[in-house]
Amino acid sequence: MAWWPKLVASLDILTTMPATSNEHQDQYSARLRSEELRSGLNYHNYRYHVLDNPEISDADYDALLNELRAIERHFPELITPDSPTQRVGAEPSPAFAIVEHRQPLLSLSNSFTREDLDNWRRRAGDRLGDGEFAVTSEPKIDGLAVALVYEDGRFVQGATRGDGRRGENITANLRTLKTIPLSLTGDFPPSFEVRGEVYMTKSGFETMNADRAERGQALYANPRNSAAGSVRQLDPKITANRPLNVFIYQLGWCDGSHPESHLETLQWLAAMGFRVNPEVALHPDLDGAWERIAWWAERRERLDYDIDGVVMKLDDSRQWERLGVAGREPRWATAFKWPPQQRTTKLKRIEVNVGRTGVLTPFAVLEPVVLGGATVSLATLHNEGDILRKDIREGDTVIVQRAGEVIPQVVGPVVSLRTGEETVFTMPADCPSCQTPVVRDEGEAALYCPNTACPTQRIRLIEHFAGRASMDIEGLGERTARSLYTSGLVRSPVDLYGLSAERLGTVDDFLTKGGRISKSAENLLAGIEKSKSRPLSNLLFALGIRHVGFETARLLATHCQSLEGLMAASAEELQEVDGIGPIVARSIAEWSGYPENVALIERLRAHGIDPLQEGPVAASDLLAGMTMVVTGTLESMSRETAEDRIRELGGKVGGGVTKSTTALVVGAGGGSKRTKAEKLGVRTIDEDLFLRVLQEGAAALELTAQETLASILEA
Ligand code: IVH
Repeated sequence: MAWWPKLVASLDILTTMPATSNEHQDQYSARLRSEELRSGLNYHNYRYHVLDNPEISDADYDALLNELRAIERHFPELITPDSPTQRVGAEPSPAFAIVEHRQPLLSLSNSFTREDLDNWRRRAGDRLGDGEFAVTSEPKIDGLAVALVYEDGRFVQGATRGDGRRGENITANLRTLKTIPLSLTGDFPPSFEVRGEVYMTKSGFETMNADRAERGQALYANPRNSAAGSVRQLDPKITANRPLNVFIYQLGWCDGSHPESHLETLQWLAAMGFRVNPEVALHPDLDGAWERIAWWAERRERLDYDIDGVVMKLDDSRQWERLGVAGREPRWATAFKWPPQQRTTKLKRIEVNVGRTGVLTPFAVLEPVVLGGATVSLATLHNEGDILRKDIREGDTVIVQRAGEVIPQVVGPVVSLRTGEETVFTMPADCPSCQTPVVRDEGEAALYCPNTACPTQRIRLIEHFAGRASMDIEGLGERTARSLYTSGLVRSPVDLYGLSAERLGTVDDFLTKGGRISKSAENLLAGIEKSKSRPLSNLLFALGIRHVGFETARLLATHCQSLEGLMAASAEELQEVDGIGPIVARSIAEWSGYPENVALIERLRAHGIDPLQEGPVAASDLLAGMTMVVTGTLESMSRETAEDRIRELGGKVGGGVTKSTTALVVGAGGGSKRTKAEKLGVRTIDEDLFLRVLQEGAAALELTAQETLASILEA
């Protein structure tokens, strides 16, 4: 055990090196590196399998293991019996009795591409002789493997995988899982073993962690760790209260006859009372299996359990015996894995972004890391409270994850990898943009810059003013807003209405190479002109008043009916409006009390922008000006209903994705349209966000300040 402290102090182990032959030509350096990798991997193995408390992500572990495999392939003389390439898992914990598995629990080879799968299939074909053979596909559940023994139809023993040969006896704990049958029904063999995966549902995990947070207990990092920690409790009563479940995916050894097809075996087990995954599919060939993988890529997020791949198995189990095992991996199965969604990397520093209302939000600047196929160097940290709660420090090694379409998040620090050099982060005392001392309002969590002339706030406000849910000025994004501001042409949104071709012509950004005014500048002017007729609710949202989201803007428009009405409304009066609370009412009244805002409203009216609202703002305008395309299968409604809802709210429904599509709604299975949308730079949204759009309109599509920032820095 002496090697652990040494390793903890050495961060180098996290760095993978490209395993080209050049790099390892020198056998001496290969020996050193393989020793380093071996002890590092053994350590991480122990953390993962015995302590249920991994320090690095699975993807980083796999990268290190692959590097070691590559070295050992080159220099077989360097392979040692204790190399992690020679076994699966780690020594079981001595706290439970040890169980010798009658047949070892194997591991699965990994495939990452179609080519890998073709090779797997070809190698099997080479051994079995020609012919098409059917393949099954099923989700690879991200939990922990268990082996359950039944005698005369009764559950007699349940064990963990352990190192594959010997596991831990956790029968008492597994008995507490309601989905593990204690006695079987129908016809069953006299004695046999089944194998499956114990997991925790995502929803159960969230609830349990929220509960733990409330009690001040340590939080689990993810459902897998949580499931592993739960079944390995020494007190079964604790296990019994955890939201655990099981899917049986395989027959182990069997004294008695059994079906010779994998799919039929699962049906046979289901008939005895085992919980079998209903998502297992049979494909006549690999093409069908490949389509199913694409289908899963879209759908996996919607399952209430984590999956980390799709397992492919030959359906005919007589072929399993003929093919046998290579090392610890059967030749008749392979696991297809997607690019990792979670990685570990170094948090270089924490920076602070200023939003349009002056609110300061921290974000993480990371050592770039490839996540879900894209390089990530920034991640959101939400707010100061979140940083403190998770104890994230500058210089930490952190776990980063990408979930759905949102920008990556920092899950938390890897505390055991701290060197002592990390620094605790505190929010700045002054605004990073204009150096004005920041303030925190009583009873509010956020810090903000009170200087309404702060350059960053101004640029963000101009951008927000032009947004789709605001004045909808096409072509006025962050970049244009910055050029307009820094050139001095636009300091306040109302200055937009004083722009002309001549004035834009004084700034290089709006000129062609030939020195003429550019097409996009002409479009900008046309867009500004068109915006003059926007409804009051959009204009009120566009003003960027603190706490006034689109919904509040609608209530305000209905209540105040005009800009004049807004400026005359007192906090007391606004508070009476159903849906407007005291903080929001005060914020609005304060805003209209500032002389510069009085001047702003006067100037808007002088430019002819003075919309009147007669009667309540109809919900039927919510999606006016938006064109949406729906693809794939939604869970909460049919595609037809989704399209009807869009039309009812004043939006247009497009048949295909074009440059003028506002957003593509992607349900399960929507593949080719998504590719087209990505190519054209059209926003894709998932069902959750779509449901919000139906409630809040285009405002739901507004990028957050951090997303805007990320897109600028990444561009
Ligand atoms: S079949 C020969 N099917 O993945 C091994 N395994 O790397 C047979 N797993 O620890 C495994 N879901 O616990 C199989 N549907 C599934 C699975 C699955 C999760 C786990 C299994 C094992 C690991 C293999």
